[in-house]
Amino acid sequence: MLTLVTGGAGFIGSNLADALIAEGHEVRILDDLSTGFAENLPAASTFFEGDLCDAELVAEAVEGVEVVFHQGARGSVPKSIETPLLTDRSNVLGTLTVLDAAHRAGVRRVVAASSSSVYGGVAPRPTVETSPLSPKSPYAASKVAAELYLRVYWELHGLETVALRYFNVYGPRQDPNGPYAAVIPRFIAALRAGEAPQVNGDGGQSRDFAFVADVVAANLAAATAPASACAGKAYNVAGGSERSLLEMLEILGSILGTDIAPEHLDPRPGDVRHSFADTSAAAADLGWAPVTDFADGLRATADWFR
Ligand SMILES: NC(=O)c1ccc[n+]([C@@H]2O[C@H](COP(=O)([O-])OP(=O)(O)OC[C@H]3O[C@@H](n4cnc5c(N)ncnc54)[C@H](O)[C@@H]3O)[C@@H](O)[C@H]2O)c1
Repeated sequence: MLTLVTGGAGFIGSNLADALIAEGHEVRILDDLSTGFAENLPAASTFFEGDLCDAELVAEAVEGVEVVFHQGARGSVPKSIETPLLTDRSNVLGTLTVLDAAHRAGVRRVVAASSSSVYGGVAPRPTVETSPLSPKSPYAASKVAAELYLRVYWELHGLETVALRYFNVYGPRQDPNGPYAAVIPRFIAALRAGEAPQVNGDGGQSRDFAFVADVVAANLAAATAPASACAGKAYNVAGGSERSLLEMLEILGSILGTDIAPEHLDPRPGDVRHSFADTSAAAADLGWAPVTDFADGLRATADWFR
């Protein structure tokens, strides 16, 4: 089938594009390279360089497409606090532009990346999708708004939409650089350089880390699951276990053969203490569950850095 991956030059989008091509699908990618990299683009894809909010370009990119995998977004929580208008533009207007173009072009389904941040860390764990949404940042609010538009396009126009609420994703191609880098690539880069990894707070905070191959598999499942089960809905996509930062560092240390002690910094204001998903709805409706063991995923990620 003909597919469009928005944000396909980024970490998750490029892994997804590779998997689609490996399954024999035709892949278009739309990306403005704001946080993605041209070297992530698979040779077998067709690249549309530009902004998600450029309605003309998006209309061109969705022409004849059966499924859109909408991964493009400004993904950083702290950056969204500094520049909320930029986050809103890409994540809300960008999503609406994709939905409207997809609807007009007769696209069958849009599978879109949402985020565990919509829960705001206040729901009981393991967190189910019906928990109240409590966004604590402009980024989280933008993902809630995008989810609402996804549901509206299903209910109003019959465009099949599925939102996937990713918990912390890690794996090959995740950028370790810059002030907004995610914790796993940052820790691997520090340990490989022989430096102490910087941990905000005591390191007892925990996350439900999802390996990127499992997230890719969730997208593929969400593209083909029956609309009667999943259209207009949102699903948790996570790794299946709750791991503290210190536990993750210990596993990384043994993989990389180092035991450098972390340097503890002040806790980050607004950081969620614990996060852990119930993924049984995705299992029931999409036929998807995470399969990657945490240590295996960390090993594959560390190998990519070599
Ligand atoms: N990585 C995670 O842990 C995580 C967790 C929850 C949700 N998500 C979501 O998953 C999706 C992919 O995230 P990622 O980790 O691969 O991030 P990423 O930054 O590597 O990828 C995002 C891509 O979108 C592109 N992009 C951003 N704004 C754009 C715009 N206006 N027009 C065109 N392209 C634009 C960027 O250039 C980049 O290639 C995002 O929607 C993100 O919010 C990621």
